[in-house]
Amino acid sequence: MKELKLALLGFGNAGQAFGRMLLEHEEEIMKTYDTKVMVTAIATGSRGNLVCSEGIDLARALADLDTEKGGSGRFTDSMALSTMTTMEIVEWADFDVLVEMTPLNIATGQPAISHIEGAFKRGKHVVTANKGPIAWAYRRLRDMAKDAGVQFYYETTVMDGTPVFNLVEHTLKMAKVTEVSGILNSTTNFILEELEAGAEYDDIMARGRQMGFIEADPAMDIEGYDAAAKITALLNVLMDAGITPDMVDRKGIEDITVEDIKAAAAKGKVIKLLCKGIRLEDGTVQASVQPTEIDRSDMLASVNSTTSVVSITTNLMKKVSVVEHEPEIEQTAYGVFGDVLRVLEGR
Ligand SMILES: NC(=O)c1ccc[n+]([C@@H]2O[C@H](COP(=O)([O-])OP(=O)(O)OC[C@H]3O[C@@H](n4cnc5c(N)ncnc54)[C@H](OP(=O)(O)O)[C@@H]3O)[C@@H](O)[C@H]2O)c1
Repeated sequence: MKELKLALLGFGNAGQAFGRMLLEHEEEIMKTYDTKVMVTAIATGSRGNLVCSEGIDLARALADLDTEKGGSGRFTDSMALSTMTTMEIVEWADFDVLVEMTPLNIATGQPAISHIEGAFKRGKHVVTANKGPIAWAYRRLRDMAKDAGVQFYYETTVMDGTPVFNLVEHTLKMAKVTEVSGILNSTTNFILEELEAGAEYDDIMARGRQMGFIEADPAMDIEGYDAAAKITALLNVLMDAGITPDMVDRKGIEDITVEDIKAAAAKGKVIKLLCKGIRLEDGTVQASVQPTEIDRSDMLASVNSTTSVVSITTNLMKKVSVVEHEPEIEQTAYGVFGDVLRVLEGR
């Protein structure tokens, strides 16, 4: 039986959900691909790092971090505990695929970009859930992967495991993408919808936090930075835009008032934070994130709560839309899982 060794950088919500999915499907992967997928390194910020060429005990690592079920919140497997830093793991640990799941640095994409570059320099495949590298350095990383002859997948970076990049690559062959638009930030979508329904701002935020998708500091969402990073990632991959998030004409929902929402409703419209990218006549791609009044009859008007949508217009297939309905962390895990399976298939 063949082996595929994974190094997981980041083992938080997404990393642990991916770990559980991997364990649950271990047998099925072995049967389908005649390959044992094992985790040989895990890096975290504060819970310790694990490194073991023969494979880490993933169930134990998960149990250690499950404080609700008695875990200590830190790794305890002394056979695998390592003093290697994250970057040392990238540069020295034994693995075939680097899985980048560290927190997003929306301002620079680092240190995730360096993690990925380090893996490519060693001829390793990369799967990333972190959109920073795709938003800040996609072209360079894509070219590095090509030169190194390795696989580089990033489906999870926009709309979790929903096939967006895969859809275009595999099912819209030869079609040239001319425009991309979408509603990509659930926090702002939820706030706008609740304000329209008459809820108070503080109550909305409290409920969103309780439901787990509004951050303690939601400024990055409310001011449109998260949406800007997502549309940048989409445009860099789908339209080879070569842009960075600071080039997006960005405005968040911070100045939208209940009066604005009511005025829009009186005209039969709803306000949504719309992301958009279009190719201009000079060949460049112009990207924007703007609160936009949308006609109630438009499909986008019905995209509520944590649901997201992306519409992709091509020269051959006109406009195609993909909707992700109220995702949970398993849908994030599936994005990573699916990309790891692609690596298996492509080896
Ligand atoms: N959650 C989602 O729904 C979702 C969806 C799509 C994409 N993503 C992306 O997936 C990535 C992970 O998200 P998440 O929700 O799992 O975040 P998270 O729960 O905050 O977990 C982040 C993990 O990274 C670790 N970490 C922090 N700095 C590190 C470093 N320098 N080296 C190694 N590990 C480090 C953290 O360690 P500590 O626990 O010790 O702090 C933690 O284990 C992010 O880039 C996010 O944007 C998430």
